[in-house]
Amino acid sequence: PETGCLSIIVLGASGDLAKKKTFPALFNLYRQRFIQSNEFHIFGYARTEMSDDDLRSRIRRPIPALGFSIFLCYICLQSGLVQMKYTSGSYDTEEGFRLLDKQISEHEEAKSSADGSCRRLFYLALPPSVYPVVCKMIKLCCMNKCGWTRIVVEKPFGKDLESAEKLSSQIGELFGEHQIYRIDHYLGKEMVQNLLVLRFANRLFVPLWNRDNIDNVQIVFREDFGIEGRGGYFDEYGIIRDIVQNHLLQVLCLVAMEKPVSLDSEHIRDEKVKVHFFFMEMQNLNQSVEPIKDEEVVLGQYHGYRDDSKVPDHSNTPTFASIILRIHNERWEGVPFILKAGKALSSKKADIRVQFKDVPGDIFNCEKQGRNEFVMRLQPSEAMYMKLAVKQPGLEMSTVQSELDLSYKQRYHGVTIPDAYERLLLDTIHGDQQHFVRRDELKAAWDIFTPLLHRIDIGELKPISYQQGSRGPAEADELLLRAGYIRTHGYRWIPPAL
Ligand code: BG6
Repeated sequence: PETGCLSIIVLGASGDLAKKKTFPALFNLYRQRFIQSNEFHIFGYARTEMSDDDLRSRIRRPIPALGFSIFLCYICLQSGLVQMKYTSGSYDTEEGFRLLDKQISEHEEAKSSADGSCRRLFYLALPPSVYPVVCKMIKLCCMNKCGWTRIVVEKPFGKDLESAEKLSSQIGELFGEHQIYRIDHYLGKEMVQNLLVLRFANRLFVPLWNRDNIDNVQIVFREDFGIEGRGGYFDEYGIIRDIVQNHLLQVLCLVAMEKPVSLDSEHIRDEKVKVHFFFMEMQNLNQSVEPIKDEEVVLGQYHGYRDDSKVPDHSNTPTFASIILRIHNERWEGVPFILKAGKALSSKKADIRVQFKDVPGDIFNCEKQGRNEFVMRLQPSEAMYMKLAVKQPGLEMSTVQSELDLSYKQRYHGVTIPDAYERLLLDTIHGDQQHFVRRDELKAAWDIFTPLLHRIDIGELKPISYQQGSRGPAEADELLLRAGYIRTHGYRWIPPAL
C-alpha cells in the first residue's frame, strides 16, 4: 500500500548525514505537504543516550550553510506538528531494536488506517561497515506486519568489486532488491533527471546524439574546497571512489544509454547497466581489454592535503582525477568520455559538455570561432546552453560564437528546485526505484574501476601535486587536448543576471 500510517526510522539519527541531509529533506517534504502530519512519525535511533528533546535541539542547532533548512526543522518541531521519538541502543544487539519495534507498533496501532495498512522506511544514515548487522536486526526485530518495509542506504558501497559484492550479498540475503534503495544523490538532481527528457523527448537530439556528430563528451565535477576535516574517510577512499565511480559514471550512463522500452524503473536501469558492458573492448569472444588505460588517466593531489591530521604523511590518495572511458558500441565507438573530478580547485561547479565535430566543407572559417557545444550545468545555477556560430550583428558578414541559453533562474523565475535528497526520499515513500542504483549496476561500476583503484592503492600510479585554487594538474588539460577537445578562445558563457 502507498497510503496509511508512515514511520520513517532514521538510524544514525545523531550523526552528520542525518542532520545535514535526512532531517531537512523530511521537514521540507512535510512543509510542502508531500507527507501529512497525521500519518507520519519520525523515529530516531542511535547509540548516543539522549532524550527526544535532546535530539530535537541537536537538529535545530544552526549550521550556517543550511540556515533555511534548519529553520524549517525548527518550525516543524516547535509547532509539535511533526512527531518525533528517539531510542538509543547498539547496532548489533536485539534489545534496542525490540524497543524500537515496540514504539513503532504503538504508533501504528494508534494511527492505522481503516484497512490497517502501514509503511516502514528505514534510513541508514550510518557507516556501511554496520549495514549488514543493522539489516539483520531490522529483519529480526522490526519488520512491518501489515505493509511494506524499505531500506535506504548511502555510499560508499564497498571499496572495490570484491568488498562491494560481499556487502550486496549480505544485504541481499535479508532483503529483496525491491526493498533496497541505494542512494546516489546525483540521480536526484534536477538536471540529471532532465537528461532522459532532453534526449528522448526532443527530435532535435535524436539524429545528432552519436559518433557521427559528437566529437567528445566531458562530465566534470569541481569543488573549490578541500576535504575539510573528512580526512579519515577521504584518505581511505579518494576522489575516484568518492565521486567518479558513482556520481559521474551514473551521469555518463544517462548520457550514453539507448532509449529504454518505457519509463518503468527496470527498463531504465536495464539500459543504464548495458552501457557498462561496452566499456570493455572485446579482443575475441572471451577476452576483454582493460577499460581504462594508464596513459588516459591523470591523477592529482592538492598541495597541503597531507596536512590534515588524519591523512598519513605519504598518502597516495588522489584528490583529483581525469579519466577517459570509451564505449565500444555502434553509437559511441571512437568518442572519448572524459570524467573529471577534483577538490580544492579554482571553482565549484558540475557540468556535462558535449562537443560536436567541425562542420564539413566550412565556408565561414568556423574553426576560428570554435565548435558547437551543448552544455548542461548541473550546479550551481542550473542551466543548459548551446554554443553556436551566428552572424556578428552589424553590416559586416562575419561570424561569432554565441549561445541559445536556458538558465533556470531566469526562465523559471521563483520556482524552487528541490534538493536531491527530498526528491529521492519521496521516491522511496512512493516505491519508485528509477533513481536508485540497482545491484547489477553497482557491480558493473566496480568492475570498470577496480583494476585502476588497486594499482593506485599499491602505489603503482601516483598523483601529481597541484596548487589549491588551481585548475588541477596541467597534465589533465593536455589529456583533454589529446582526447580531441578544442577549447574556444575568447568565449565565455556568462549566466544571465536576474
Ligand atoms: C558526496 C561526496 O557524495 O558528494 C563529497 O562524498 C562531495 O565529497 C559531495 O562533496 C558533492 O555533492 P554536491 O551535491 O554538493 O555536488
